[in-house]
Amino acid sequence: MQIYIEKDYCQLSKRAARIIADEINQKPDIVLGLATGSTPMGTYKELVRLHKEEGLDFSQVITFNLDEYYDIAPSNKQSYHYYMQHHLFDHINIRPENIHIPDGKAQDVEKFCIMYDEQIKDHGGIDFQLLGIGENGHIGFNEPDRELKVLTHLSKLSKSTIKANSRFFNSPEDVPDKAITMGLGSIMRSKKIMLLASGRSKASIIAKILTEGRTTTSIPASSLLLHNRVTVILDEEAASLYNKPASTRGENIRDLQIRKNSGYEKGGKNVVTYKECQSGHTF
Ligand code: F6R
Repeated sequence: MQIYIEKDYCQLSKRAARIIADEINQKPDIVLGLATGSTPMGTYKELVRLHKEEGLDFSQVITFNLDEYYDIAPSNKQSYHYYMQHHLFDHINIRPENIHIPDGKAQDVEKFCIMYDEQIKDHGGIDFQLLGIGENGHIGFNEPDRELKVLTHLSKLSKSTIKANSRFFNSPEDVPDKAITMGLGSIMRSKKIMLLASGRSKASIIAKILTEGRTTTSIPASSLLLHNRVTVILDEEAASLYNKPASTRGENIRDLQIRKNSGYEKGGKNVVTYKECQSGHTF
């Protein structure tokens, strides 16, 4: 596991976008797994900039989104379809037929979920999966439970997720209580995974996962400790409870590589001002 600790959300977003851009440049027909939520907004904004200013080419890129609220239409402004169009797809040269997002209006959900997994398989699996993390440790909408589902399924959102996501809605009652999400197996089968966490609200779950070095279904993201190609990018706030001297960090995880503020393009042409990044962080 490779861990980057960046100064702030802006640097985190630039680091994440650069890593994704490098992956696209190495494999132009890459299959990308994408996430929504506040955390990747800055990354998408920077990817749009890389497309517009540096010609990053998405013409062969294939995407599969992790999840979509149920039961919600793609045209609904709170849908993840709308989010993806608004933050990324409308601004890059991706082919509409290469975009896959779970259907929040699927009539036969079970059939849809089987088809979604088949589509991922038919494209050779996900090459690179981008993830955010819930305060309770969820990834996708795989919520803490006694058992975790392997394949794409309809998930019931936990109270804490509904509360956290209510900031995007008028009230918690308006937040859909279900979502179609890729399962843990679909995520873990990705060839590479990158998890982003920003802000103090994520500090406790990040510290728990990275210091305890054990997996449990009560923290779905702890499964990532079993994958051998995971990059974690934190900002200093998200790393704040984990920010111990290197000799005592991650004592139970032997292959941790930690790079703190490694000076990524300091003052370079790719610098996005903090203010610009902040504006990317509100939806
Ligand atoms: C969204 C998703 C969720 C979010 C998580 C964190 O597609 O899969 O797991 O990544 O809820 O959300 P933010 O980034 O809003 O804190």
